[in-house]
Amino acid sequence: MSLPSPENTPSHVAIIMDGNGRWARQRGLPRIEGHRRGVETVRAVTDAGRELGLRTLTLYAFSVENWKRPQDEVGALMGLLEYYLQKELGTFIKNRIRLRTIGRTDQLPAGVQKHLNHTIAETAHFTDYTLVLALNYGARTEVADAARAYAAAVAAGQVEPNATSWETFSRYLYTAGLPDPDLIIRTSGETRISNFLLLQGAYAEFVFTPVLWPDFGKADLAAAIAEYARRERRYGLTSEQVKPKVTA
Ligand code: FPP
Repeated sequence: MSLPSPENTPSHVAIIMDGNGRWARQRGLPRIEGHRRGVETVRAVTDAGRELGLRTLTLYAFSVENWKRPQDEVGALMGLLEYYLQKELGTFIKNRIRLRTIGRTDQLPAGVQKHLNHTIAETAHFTDYTLVLALNYGARTEVADAARAYAAAVAAGQVEPNATSWETFSRYLYTAGLPDPDLIIRTSGETRISNFLLLQGAYAEFVFTPVLWPDFGKADLAAAIAEYARRERRYGLTSEQVKPKVTA
């Protein structure tokens, strides 16, 4: 498949990785096997994103609601995350990948936090490609946290509340400094947004694919990008305004 031109390639793709459990169930395996395979996909799709010309890839790895899953599954997911971070540091450095997180990472197990902080510090100087892991993330929690920080800044006299705008408020979101996602993909056939980047995705294109996350690969990412390239993003304007007709 040929690549779309750079102006039709999304700069920032965000993915709701879904279907690990179903992938495992279809094979008579425990759910955690699906997550284990899901980690392999995280590796492959991170590489694929770089090769396909993305600048930022955000992966929804653990939501604020996911703590309510059976405790053994939560524990296994945290263990996988720690293992992944430990194993991938060399690859992040070799491939010049900057790691960032969004979410309440201060509530993650101490071992995970330690590896996260180390990897983030070791890769902070890379500028070409950023992998953002959404961990203990929820959009409503993010807004509440941002509102609290904003109110504190107002109380401290650092912010003029009457000058509040999206530009001034969005600096208090977890995503401060990151571009908005151009394309949001959800795997496994579900067509929900599940509390993911609700504000940042205001103008994003959405692609829903039936492929389960452990089976998702470079060709699926390329197909989603090709679908994105066929869309016309209008940001509230008319089609004619976006693509003015060429007059002789
Ligand atoms: C959704 O599948 C997946 C998750 C809730 C976790 C995603 C986690 C990983 C891919 C592995 C850990 C991540 C990293 C970055 C190391 P599901 O369990 O909801 O699937 P189901 O809907 O089929 O049950």
